[in-house]
Amino acid sequence: MNLNRRDFIKGSLATSAMALGGIAHAQAAPEVILQKTIPSTGELLPVIGFGTNQYGTGTDLSIRNTLKQTLKIFAENGGTLLDTSSHYRGSEGVLGGILTELQLTEKAFIATKAGQFDELPLETKLNNSLAHFGVDQLDLYQIHNVAFQDWRNMLPPLQEWKQEGKIRYIGITGSEDVEHPEIAEAMRTGGVDFVQLNYNVGDRNIENELLPIARERGIAVVGNVPFGQGSLFSAVSDVELPEFAREFSQSWGNFFLKYNVSHPDVTASIPGTSKPHHALDNVQAGMGRLPTSAERKMQEDFMASL
Ligand SMILES: NC(=O)c1ccc[n+]([C@@H]2O[C@H](COP(=O)([O-])OP(=O)(O)OC[C@H]3O[C@@H](n4cnc5c(N)ncnc54)[C@H](OP(=O)(O)O)[C@@H]3O)[C@@H](O)[C@H]2O)c1
Repeated sequence: MNLNRRDFIKGSLATSAMALGGIAHAQAAPEVILQKTIPSTGELLPVIGFGTNQYGTGTDLSIRNTLKQTLKIFAENGGTLLDTSSHYRGSEGVLGGILTELQLTEKAFIATKAGQFDELPLETKLNNSLAHFGVDQLDLYQIHNVAFQDWRNMLPPLQEWKQEGKIRYIGITGSEDVEHPEIAEAMRTGGVDFVQLNYNVGDRNIENELLPIARERGIAVVGNVPFGQGSLFSAVSDVELPEFAREFSQSWGNFFLKYNVSHPDVTASIPGTSKPHHALDNVQAGMGRLPTSAERKMQEDFMASL
């Protein structure tokens, strides 16, 4: 792997976090975001990231200012992982511009994606992504919805770009259970550092086959749609946070996200939001203690009882 200035900064941050934080998988200090290890390198990554598929709307100035505020709050509280895609209607450009203005590009862990949803060659998409962020290296480059892509022919160029230092990690993504068999096959071929999958307390099917493959193969897991695209909030709209959960959660957002990242095989979760106060709520889910396995079971039972 080629080292550049971005690696140096990230490596330094990881080292100081380890030295300072006594980083553990189950608990962080109240105001320090918990980090977990990326299995293929040992690098640390904060457990709460940010999904930016709504950022394409940020071409409108007032919406852009609000998105900028969400990102500022996220970063001020220790968040680094930002997930976007070449296919999120302008999200990459808006995100790249805001990161530059906030001088956060170097600190961010930039995860983007590309798929063959149009005629544009993959290499052009990569170059466009690098240009949107003004960097010569992306942290994570993912095959978007791998189950619908010619991934066997897409992985070799990604390996080449990793060798050349244009990307640091290779990933694959999916968001529907129907995609899981193909994702399992892609995970087993090797050369994949990250897999991004649908995971939340109401959608736990990845626990059966995909999480064990990730553990066995040393693949980092990022959980997407952690709120079921908001449906989990609808399910609890007139429900009080249960007493047992107040031990580790201040809000329903905390409850859902802490469930996700307390699974030992889940590295990080990437909630999406367009609201600054939700960005704060979400990143705070990475702080303090996570539920134990017994409490996770109580969370599952509580949600199933609604
Ligand atoms: N195949 C793929 O690769 C794939 C597919 C789907 C998603 N993803 C990734 O996953 C990310 C997350 O998915 P998503 O945004 O669709 O779904 P999500 O994170 O499950 O839910 C987002 C919804 O939750 C609400 N919300 C967020 N934080 C909240 C809080 N603290 N309290 C109350 N409501 C809150 C948001 O509303 P507000 O805006 O009002 O906060 C929004 O309606 C995407 O941005 C994308 O990066 C990847």
